[in-house]
Amino acid sequence: MAENATESKMEEMQLNDGAAKEAATAAEEDIVDPWTVATSSEKGIDYDKLIKRFGSTKIDQALLDRFEKVTGHAPHHLLRRGVFFSQREVNKILDRYEAKKPFFLYTGRGPSSGSMHTGHLIPFVFTKWLQEVFDVPLVVQLTDDEKFLWKDLKAEEAFRLAKENAKDIIALGFDVEKTFIFSDMEYIGSSPAFYMNMIKIQKCVTYNQVKGIFGFTDSDCIGKISFPSIQAAPSFSTSFPQIFGGKKDIPCLIPCAIDQDPYFRMTRDVAPRLGYPKPALIHSTFFPALQGAKTKMSASEPNSSIFLTDTAKQIKTKINKYAFSGGGTSVEDHRERGGNCEIDIAYQYLTFFMEDDERLEQIRKDYTSGQLLTGDLKKELIVILQKVCADHQDRRKQVTDDILKEFMRPRKLKYDF
Ligand code: TYM
Repeated sequence: MAENATESKMEEMQLNDGAAKEAATAAEEDIVDPWTVATSSEKGIDYDKLIKRFGSTKIDQALLDRFEKVTGHAPHHLLRRGVFFSQREVNKILDRYEAKKPFFLYTGRGPSSGSMHTGHLIPFVFTKWLQEVFDVPLVVQLTDDEKFLWKDLKAEEAFRLAKENAKDIIALGFDVEKTFIFSDMEYIGSSPAFYMNMIKIQKCVTYNQVKGIFGFTDSDCIGKISFPSIQAAPSFSTSFPQIFGGKKDIPCLIPCAIDQDPYFRMTRDVAPRLGYPKPALIHSTFFPALQGAKTKMSASEPNSSIFLTDTAKQIKTKINKYAFSGGGTSVEDHRERGGNCEIDIAYQYLTFFMEDDERLEQIRKDYTSGQLLTGDLKKELIVILQKVCADHQDRRKQVTDDILKEFMRPRKLKYDF
């Protein structure tokens, strides 16, 4: 799946927009950073190469075995199938879990649209599972400030979208006693500890360094240039004194897609200089655009992704009409030569959403042999995604403003430190 998972990170990224693609071609390298995911390769991002370039570590069987041994839980299907494929120092987190020492989970969302898409579910569904396995605090950062700085969005609107997205996140079933969700615009102003960490980080990183890591130019506004310190700060337990009682030695594990890694390379570099532990990371591949590995996807292009707000009918239409097929050109051709799961978007989506390994393997075999037609494969996916979205919409309706307020209120969680 990694092979074909896409030059296109969903939604707001100008994925294969002209300039990024040109740059990727010129550099003969994939571009993967928090704002651009682009490749000149037909096959999509080369994740093995990316691991080497970023200096992270591939998740191997030995780590999965250790995970199972230490936690007593079989790895989640997103881990087993290599959707989460790369990591930094997860072993250290497992050491702590074994030694019954505390740690926490940190993840986030940049609220650029009212509805999240199905790709955004990946890190959050996985984070929820990690929280259930480890039973540790979770902090979720909503970077409304980031979206204000990078997008054509009013600050007030970005703040409103943060709260809308928080409802989507809550609807995934997070436990209010274990989870703090915060908007940067709201929390930073009320938290001297968070702000102090921000400026401590800012003092450690030069303009030259952020230019090197993030590609900022002289014409980028100064808000962008200092923003990485804001995404770095939640990695440190001292940013949340109400949760961790001022303890500075509690590390975190950050689940995210690999586009966010540059922020945390910077954070890991700064951490020892501030006397803090480095955050550990677990990275996922990207959920591809409906149109396939070479297709631009954006929030303003509603037919390129399945949104959590989509109706059953919209899901059916989008998948039937737009999901790039690896099937034959005709039924006869398909029966004779079989389908190609490597490039088939409906199959790719099933690897994210179908939990049953045996069923998925049967589908792969039948599609590859030509026995299963593209229409049948798509039908499987449509039923699953219709249920994912309908269930989500039901749960989201139950998230009241009071529930939202409680999740976003700075407070002690159920853990003592
Ligand atoms: P954002 O809103 O771009 O994405 C939210 C999370 O979803 C991941 N993601 C995807 N995963 C799989 N397939 C996709 N197509 C896809 N698109 C996005 C992102 O990697 C991310 O994990 N700056 C961040 C917000 C943030 C954050 C964090 C994210 C703040 N602190 C800590 C992760 C961890 C952003 O704009 O994410």
